[in-house]
Amino acid sequence: MMKKTFLSVLSALAIVGAVSFTSTSVEASGGVAIPQQKWSWTGPFGTFDRAALRRGLQVYTEVCSGCHSLNLMSYRNLADIGFSEDEIKAIAADYEVEDGPDDEGEMFFREAMPADKFVSPFANEKAARASNNGAMPPDLSLMIKARKDGANYVHALLNGYEEEAPEGVELNEGMSYNHYFPGNQIAMAPPVEDDYVEYEDGTPATQQQITSDIVTFLAWAAEPELEERKKLGLKVMIFLGLITFMLYGLKRKIWAKLH
Ligand code: HEC
Repeated sequence: MMKKTFLSVLSALAIVGAVSFTSTSVEASGGVAIPQQKWSWTGPFGTFDRAALRRGLQVYTEVCSGCHSLNLMSYRNLADIGFSEDEIKAIAADYEVEDGPDDEGEMFFREAMPADKFVSPFANEKAARASNNGAMPPDLSLMIKARKDGANYVHALLNGYEEEAPEGVELNEGMSYNHYFPGNQIAMAPPVEDDYVEYEDGTPATQQQITSDIVTFLAWAAEPELEERKKLGLKVMIFLGLITFMLYGLKRKIWAKLH
């Protein structure tokens, strides 16, 4: 009877482990299979590649931030991925935020500070749409979590443009053909290509490199607590394993006398 309980505890542990440790399977968007990439942060011990995160921030700053906000992120959050206080101050100081009112009751602009949220490219949705042919560039803070199989989907999307729509497909004015966007017509022109940025760390900026770096950065932005959560999960598993082991030993000791 006790042996059975022990076994079922063990198998329950194994199931918990298996479920939490499997990575995402192939998902489809609009019936199209999304190519699966290898990401450093998947798997039980996965962490974000720090160099890729830095490059990803550079891509966001130099490219995506021209249209997309990152509303949930503050400059000081960058400390979590290894940016120093001075680096963060310098990054924030490149932007201006509205503050106030001052003693005269006037609103004013000042340099952004580490505690400020990432500054949005547009003052409001109408301004954003007006600059984008009527389409709204969505906030990217939670994009990787908001889309099914998000990291692979965004990577595929950024690499999924066709120069011309297939025969028989009429593109509307200002739209591009994308293999992975639902409905295939997207209001975002291809945002990157080879050498679109010049990396500060000297990494060759192929389109593949740029797109995988920005996805890594956005995956961290959407789930900054991921590494902590994994560490805690691992500690819990080890703890449960030890407890199971000790209880089993105790059980044997007690039952040895009763037989
Ligand atoms: C010139 C403006 C512009 C730039 C630059 C830009 N985007 Fe977009 N993006 C848009 C617009 C507009 C949409 C909305 C498209 C639509 O709804 O058809 C969009 C949509 C998206 C979506 C949502 C797709 C979906 O499934 O709904 C993602 C993800 C995205 N962009 C990522 C990026 C990334 C990453 C970059 C930087 C490498 C970037 N964008 C640069 C304008 C831009």
